[in-house]
Amino acid sequence: MRVLQLSKFGSEHLSVTDSPLAELGDQEVLVSLEAASVNPRDSQIIAGQFATNVQFPLIPLSDGAGTITRVGSAVTRFVVGDRVTPLFFPNWLSGEAMAGERAVSTGLEAPGVARDLGIFHEQSLVAFPKHLSAVEAACYPCAGLTAWSGLFVNAQIREGSWVLVQGTGGVATMGIQLAKAAGAKVICISSSDQKLEQAQLLGADHTINYSDTPNWGQRAFELSGQGVDAVLDIGGGGTLENSLEAIRHGGHINIIGYVAGIDMGVTVFPLIIKNAHLHGIGTGNRDSYEQLMSFVDRHQLRPAVAQTFPLEQVKHALAALDNDRPFGKVVIDFAS
Ligand SMILES: NC(=O)c1ccc[n+]([C@@H]2O[C@H](COP(=O)([O-])OP(=O)(O)OC[C@H]3O[C@@H](n4cnc5c(N)ncnc54)[C@H](OP(=O)(O)O)[C@@H]3O)[C@@H](O)[C@H]2O)c1
Repeated sequence: MRVLQLSKFGSEHLSVTDSPLAELGDQEVLVSLEAASVNPRDSQIIAGQFATNVQFPLIPLSDGAGTITRVGSAVTRFVVGDRVTPLFFPNWLSGEAMAGERAVSTGLEAPGVARDLGIFHEQSLVAFPKHLSAVEAACYPCAGLTAWSGLFVNAQIREGSWVLVQGTGGVATMGIQLAKAAGAKVICISSSDQKLEQAQLLGADHTINYSDTPNWGQRAFELSGQGVDAVLDIGGGGTLENSLEAIRHGGHINIIGYVAGIDMGVTVFPLIIKNAHLHGIGTGNRDSYEQLMSFVDRHQLRPAVAQTFPLEQVKHALAALDNDRPFGKVVIDFAS
């Protein structure tokens, strides 16, 4: 199989090689992988900034999609020809994660999806809807599930809810589409007026340029009348104070990323005064992913794909995500 391997930390140590395929176990399936999307975590892993205790050579990337070409003798969940995505956390199937269920993630502790063939346990895969291409399906395992967990598992948004998404990257664009499909109103903040126009085309009802309006939290509170029901907070330290301004009494702030600072640096008062809920999010479980896939199917959603690259150009894909701040997802298309 063609596989992208990291021999030591640093993107200069990535190379595509040929590697033999292991034997297929009774409960395993062989997946012909066709696409993989990249996430900020992938760059951090490759640079050695996410975890230092890793096993080399490491096969990176958590989010892939492809077609099952062989099944083990005891497989019951899938047949040859099914189109699937591997889970971000292959062992986290239901409910709250206990430590062991979060101990293994694809593309770090378990081999990633930057390869054209992969053997997976049948329990660690979910089928994706027929209307999605592999490039599109590969956008959902991390960014899509994270937005889903924040909006539907934690905040339980519904028609008429107000949602605030931060930025115009993978998580935010997923958040816009999912919230709009549920009938919610969406406020999107970005540093770019041009990307805010794209956010409106994707469905955002209101937009705020956070560079021009540093107190965007107050503006979002006013726009929504009584504050927003849910925030997808990807900024962390640099955005939490505004998220607390924006949130309604009893609303849900989902702490997802730290692109604007890792230190939370706020007092407890706004949380107490607003009876607000602060949730830490680590993607989600298989049950949620299956719910997400059936929602995507029901509403015939397609993710915002900014750019695609061939497997040999993973470095360029990661650089595009890190430096160009694209609108939506960057994807590796193995066929190109
Ligand atoms: N916890 C989890 O399970 C989980 C899952 C997925 C992602 N994450 C994390 O969440 C973050 C976002 O992931 P992603 O995939 O959406 O990344 P992405 O596609 O690279 O998008 C990053 C976005 O950050 C926005 N941004 C930068 N500084 C900002 C600020 N000061 N205020 C508001 N927005 C700001 C940018 O918005 P503009 O360019 O439009 O201004 C950009 O669109 C990353 O830290 C990632 O590691 C965590």
